[in-house]
Amino acid sequence: MSKITAASLQKMKQAQQKITCITAYDASFASLFDQAGIQVLLIGDSLGMVLQGHDSTLPVSIDDISYHTRCVKSGAPQALIIADLPFMTYATPADTYHNAATLMRNGAHMVKLEGGEWLADSIKGLVDRGVPVCGHLGLTPQSVNVFGGYKVQGRQSEQADKLLADAKALEAAGVQLLVLECVPVPLAEAITQALNIPVIGIGAGNVTDGQILVMHDAFGISAGFCPKFSKNFLAETGDIRKAVGLYKSQVESGEFPAKEHSFY
Ligand code: KIV
Ligand code: NA
Repeated sequence: MSKITAASLQKMKQAQQKITCITAYDASFASLFDQAGIQVLLIGDSLGMVLQGHDSTLPVSIDDISYHTRCVKSGAPQALIIADLPFMTYATPADTYHNAATLMRNGAHMVKLEGGEWLADSIKGLVDRGVPVCGHLGLTPQSVNVFGGYKVQGRQSEQADKLLADAKALEAAGVQLLVLECVPVPLAEAITQALNIPVIGIGAGNVTDGQILVMHDAFGISAGFCPKFSKNFLAETGDIRKAVGLYKSQVESGEFPAKEHSFY
């Protein structure tokens, strides 16, 4: 496999080949995922929960993401590496440029931020300055205190219309990839079809152009809890490399996520 770029992901969407993504935080797992041909590794601010033990992603700092980006980078020569901009590190365009530069200098190929149309100027500014951007819509965990919990988004038609409009605004602003989290399948399908860029789902059904999971959920590491939209691939295989392979092949065939992992 040659180096994955935003352009190769775009080609995969056009060829209707599913894109497999997973979070990674260290060199060993990053290397294992890279060797399995996983296209995208995300240093997610989910590390605040799965590595640091917080009950949300809000305490995560730019230094935390930078450190783990360096770790992942050293293990993954081929995958596209995306790093999350943490809570309040992209509140203004100036903050956004400064913090995105830090992540890029630490090895990210692309940065991800949560939110819709209000981010258009910052996104355009990043792209103009040489920073590729991934959007994130739907259940955006940095807004958990506005939502009042981790809830499926876009169930009412007004909310759904707003999400579709936000997705189009992000694409127009220049994002090259979009993560869509916890939305009903028909909305995920409408957004995926409306956009030219690849849409990566988590809790959005098998209708998106690819899937992403938090690695701890994919292998049943999160103590006693597996979100509805995830599956423990290690339980079925008993071997971490086989588990990664099964995740990738079931994403590619559309077998994962199944109806029981999706919202309607
Ligand atoms: O932080 C994270 O792991 C994420 C993914 C769940 C998309 O943003
Ligand atoms: Na995140």
